[in-house]
Amino acid sequence: MQKSIVIYRVCRFTQAREDSRFFISQEENAMKFYMPARLYEESDVVAKHAKEITALGKKALIVTGAHSAKKTGAQADLTEILSDAGMDYEIFDQVEENPSTRTIMQACRSADVADCDFVVGIGGGSPLDAAKAIALMLAHPNWKEEKLYQNGQDNSHLPLVCIPTTCGTGSELTGVSVLTRREQGLKGSIPYVLFPDLALVDGKYLAKAPKRLIANTATDALAHLIEAYANTGADDYTRMLVDRGLEVWAESKNFLLGLEEADDARYSRLMLASSLAGMSIAQAGTTVPHGLSYNLTLEAQIPHGIAVGYFQAGYLRECPAQMRDHLLEKAGFASPGDLDAFFRQICQVPQVSQEVLAHCLTAVMNTPAKREICPFDANEQVLRRIAGLK
Ligand SMILES: [Fe+2]
Repeated sequence: MQKSIVIYRVCRFTQAREDSRFFISQEENAMKFYMPARLYEESDVVAKHAKEITALGKKALIVTGAHSAKKTGAQADLTEILSDAGMDYEIFDQVEENPSTRTIMQACRSADVADCDFVVGIGGGSPLDAAKAIALMLAHPNWKEEKLYQNGQDNSHLPLVCIPTTCGTGSELTGVSVLTRREQGLKGSIPYVLFPDLALVDGKYLAKAPKRLIANTATDALAHLIEAYANTGADDYTRMLVDRGLEVWAESKNFLLGLEEADDARYSRLMLASSLAGMSIAQAGTTVPHGLSYNLTLEAQIPHGIAVGYFQAGYLRECPAQMRDHLLEKAGFASPGDLDAFFRQICQVPQVSQEVLAHCLTAVMNTPAKREICPFDANEQVLRRIAGLK
């Protein structure tokens, strides 16, 4: 039996706030906004911004998983502009789902990467998060693997480009990198703030993604929007992003239900919802549902989007009524139950044992910062209800 999993980096928001303290006032009602990535979101975005990409260095390290970067055409778009510019590159395509710290070190130790001076991540959350960590470690060649999860102060990294091929992670617009330490059964954000220099978003890369993957990642985007808003760290900037994000997200509900065919415009809108959600969590962080989700993924191998979707209805039920109603209205749901029914229609949600759910609870009980930013008292009894524990 796998032991209970404890999140080793307790809170994405905490770290981002610590790192950005130079401009955040401690006064009540203080506002903040920090999103240093240069974002371009348009069709053929890689070709259109070739000069900005190639200006980042002399040799690129392209970080991907096994398939999506190739299948979507994103890798070919990138290598074409690099070749046209006469630039060399290496490809590391061994990033697994829920990338491990070991994979990061494997990529960094390869002799081929020695002279790479910038990094391009292509794919879903796993390759993008891995690319961030690799860019960090390549800038600090003397750092050992442990440094990835020890509290760090030095966030400097090689120039970094992120190109998403799914519509949920938001990683291209956050400073977060979530990694796994497999031997210890630990998954969580590493304690560094790693925003890409360039985030290049193109809806066309979704066209070749399986419907199942689009549904899962769109659910992750919805979770980001809900958790960024139902969050004591949210301010008017965050709420503005979430309100627009939910409106844009809701436009794709019929497509997600299989009632409409997608076209280029639909894929672009799904990507836009994901971008707005990513920018939202870059400000406020994620809360209890994400904290609960990591055990579902590691113990029950449930994809991240489904794992966070699993707890959204329960989370909303605990939120103050006005906040809950606002979020539901913006997303076009009548009630938390309605949202949950939608989620179960678009995603294949497996049965989860009470034992695994109990481990989820233990993990989030050990993560006070995730609970402290909830807009209600997230005590054990409340968390049991959110987790669906009897
Ligand atoms: Fe997420």
